[in-house]
Amino acid sequence: MLNSEVQIFDTTLRDGEQVPGCKLNTEQKLIIAEQLEELGVDVIEAGFPVSSPGDFKSVEEISKKIKYATVCGLTRAVENDIKVAAAALKYAKNPRIHTGIGTSDSHIKYKFNLTRDEIIERAYSAVRFAKSFVEDVEFYAEDAGRTENSYLARVCEAAIKAGATVINIPDTTGYCLPSEYGAKIKYLKENVNGIEKAILSCHCHNDLGLATANSIEGVINGARQIECTINGIGERAGNTALEEVVMILKQHPYLNLDTNIKTKNLYGISQLVSEHMGIYTQPNKAIVGANAFSHSSGIHQDGVIKQRETYEIINPKDVGVTESSIVLTARSGRAALAYRAKNIGYELTKLQLDEVYANFLNFADLKKQIEDNDIHQIIETSKMYREI
Ligand code: KIV
Ligand code: ZN
Repeated sequence: MLNSEVQIFDTTLRDGEQVPGCKLNTEQKLIIAEQLEELGVDVIEAGFPVSSPGDFKSVEEISKKIKYATVCGLTRAVENDIKVAAAALKYAKNPRIHTGIGTSDSHIKYKFNLTRDEIIERAYSAVRFAKSFVEDVEFYAEDAGRTENSYLARVCEAAIKAGATVINIPDTTGYCLPSEYGAKIKYLKENVNGIEKAILSCHCHNDLGLATANSIEGVINGARQIECTINGIGERAGNTALEEVVMILKQHPYLNLDTNIKTKNLYGISQLVSEHMGIYTQPNKAIVGANAFSHSSGIHQDGVIKQRETYEIINPKDVGVTESSIVLTARSGRAALAYRAKNIGYELTKLQLDEVYANFLNFADLKKQIEDNDIHQIIETSKMYREI
């Protein structure tokens, strides 16, 4: 793996599917998993096999189907979870067990009622046990975002000693500021013995709307895997959105960080996940929302019509959107009206446009959005147009 390569670990089918009401059946999971492989993700977290017979079956079927990507199953640091995950991953060409335990003081005290040293022992044993089934073992330190750095470094060191190939640093509660999360990754890079044997991974939640920013800070500071979901779906406010981190790295080449994602597939897979999960994507969602490439104010429309890059930092075709749209509202200007009129076959003179525009504004004040049939009607009933 090149030092510039950031692995994309997709957890749409595991963390994403934890959203209430989004449960998928095995067939739906298989359809999405195949499209994730087509998209170019490096790792597909297919589920939490011990959680239900249905999830076990989904992980097993995905393992059979996926050819190149690593297929991963989640476990707690519990022997039976690990055994069940190993069985579900039996057919995977590249299996990975993702095991771990909570490491923040509140997890240690309230969830486990253990000591810090006991947590380290459990982490070590879980990774060792997982290693008896598969070579590729990822360890997660749950709530690492609120775990004291010096203790977190000890936990990571134990997991690496036990053979972990990837160390996941989840900001489980979405608490960290980007500077804090970046500093945590840097601290671990500099203070964990044996860190060169493992990849550090970012797993950020979006409770404060910072998941994407935190993941980017993580890779700038040395992490080389991002855990994310399509459309950013996931527990509570969701996970890091795959399409966002991928496009941020692509649009900022000077960072010298690349992914293997075929970005032209992003819009299609966003629609697919939204349909199967029954979660509607907010229109202003970055990259894949319905308004991500639509322009409605007169000043912006005039700029985009003259030169797309004036108001677009991404070519919509690069993410699978056919073209930007010029939406007509009462805030639109003459340039946008002339442009849309031309698209449906009307070349208006300056005088005609003046009159049609005045009629358009009266109409647009009464309607949220003006469609092509409205434009026809406005033009055909304009006096100047009819007289020519
Ligand atoms: O958010 C989290 O901590 C997780 C772990 C189970 C990896 O999803
Ligand atoms: Zn999570």
